[in-house]
Amino acid sequence: MTIKDTMTGKEAEKMPNLAFRMMAFIFNLRDIFFSIDKRLDSFGIKEGFVIVDYGCGTGSFIKRASKLVGADGLVYAVDIHPLSIEAVSKKIIKNGLNNVKPLLADGYSCDISDNDADMIYALDMFHMIKNPSEFLQELHRILKKEGTLIIEYGHQPRAEAKAKIMGTQLWNITEEGLKHTRCQPIHS
Ligand SMILES: C[S@@+](CC[C@H](N)C(=O)[O-])C[C@H]1O[C@@H](n2cnc3c(N)ncnc32)[C@H](O)[C@@H]1O
Repeated sequence: MTIKDTMTGKEAEKMPNLAFRMMAFIFNLRDIFFSIDKRLDSFGIKEGFVIVDYGCGTGSFIKRASKLVGADGLVYAVDIHPLSIEAVSKKIIKNGLNNVKPLLADGYSCDISDNDADMIYALDMFHMIKNPSEFLQELHRILKKEGTLIIEYGHQPRAEAKAKIMGTQLWNITEEGLKHTRCQPIHS
């Protein structure tokens, strides 16, 4: 396995601890020099929303997300890596983010009720998913019928990401941005 494969998750969704720590170091630098606020603001998150940051990593987006949903909203920060949950939990305490709840995913499953979320965003992680069908089925389960999924192409060609999404027949792509697609769930 090459370092690149380890970092981009081509061979393992749950990356080794060392790789996660290296990623965290890079992301912490990124967060100092580049603000994510504009990007998150463009998603259309509203006060009172229940949102899911799926594959939240070091929790770069949780502070802004917490502010956007406000005291009546909720942010689930989901990740498959225990070090992510540790990093997010520290950020929650440090910044008093009482409306953010860290959740460790178990494979493609997470402890969120059916039809709970108004919005899910999965940023820079879809390329790591080995079984997109199972993954997208779980996102479909937790999203409200009128909810929105924002999924970033990540380190894969746009056409490949789109084919995976369309292949499930669970999602309509409603908007294509430079880096991500916006999708609505299909319900028969
Ligand atoms: C490259 S990081 C991106 C983190 C964050 N979304 C960001 O943009 O800063 C990808 C994250 O997705 C997580 N991940 C990979 N597969 C996952 C899965 N099946 N369920 C939940 N999280 C997953 C990894 O553990 C890692 O923290």
